[in-house]
Amino acid sequence: MNAQLDLTADQLLATTRSVRKRLDTSRPVPRDVIEECLNLAFQAPNGSNLNVWRWIVVDDPVLVRKVAGLYHKGYEKMIASLGDAVGSNYAGAQVPGAEGIHASVDALLQKMPDMPALVIPLMAGRPEDKDAFEQACMWGSIIQAVWSLFLALRVRGLGSAWTTMHILQEQETAELLGIPFDRYTQVGLFPVAYTLGTDFRPAWRRPVSEVVGWNSFKP
Ligand SMILES: Cc1cc2nc3c(=O)[nH]c(=O)nc-3n(C[C@H](O)[C@H](O)[C@H](O)COP(=O)(O)O)c2cc1C
Repeated sequence: MNAQLDLTADQLLATTRSVRKRLDTSRPVPRDVIEECLNLAFQAPNGSNLNVWRWIVVDDPVLVRKVAGLYHKGYEKMIASLGDAVGSNYAGAQVPGAEGIHASVDALLQKMPDMPALVIPLMAGRPEDKDAFEQACMWGSIIQAVWSLFLALRVRGLGSAWTTMHILQEQETAELLGIPFDRYTQVGLFPVAYTLGTDFRPAWRRPVSEVVGWNSFKP
């Protein structure tokens, strides 16, 4: 087993962040570290334990650059789609620490082509023609494993960032990586690298008193 940080379970849960600026692209990540983390991630629940998910790990530097290029295209599309809502009008701009998030998103964009590895989890099926129940089963059968992957990485001194923008180029990514697009949905693009330092802090979140309703909806 690879070396682990001395973190309690609560510390691990409170300090596993979307790491972007502090991903170390100069340090290689051995495949066995990623495999160990994925093995743990696969302990997450999945519907009927069918294990129909597939996972792609891209660590060929040429392919990493190509996927990063598709992420960049997705980013540009996303920015263009914000239209008038861009800048201070954007809802995300009202959140504490928003400026830091923008700088961090930009830093990841620059670093993506040099990532040691990229993970793309694949959910079996396509959501387009599914009702809410079926979609809940599909997303719920893979998202939990992705978060477990983040936790397993964090405790080994590595990090990732939840990203989705490449999905605006999902079909092109599928063609590049040989994914049967009509049968599998890409869940996100998760860079994997050692982190620069391992001290991460809890982030700002709205408190329980603001967002939790006991026995009925909290407006
Ligand atoms: C569903 C989802 C999609 C996201 N997509 C992106 C993305 O494409 N690029 C990016 O840099 N960050 C992305 N983020 C990160 C968020 O912008 C936000 O900064 C992050 O979740 C907050 O990180 P924290 O938990 O460390 O506070 C995404 C997060 C989530 C949950």
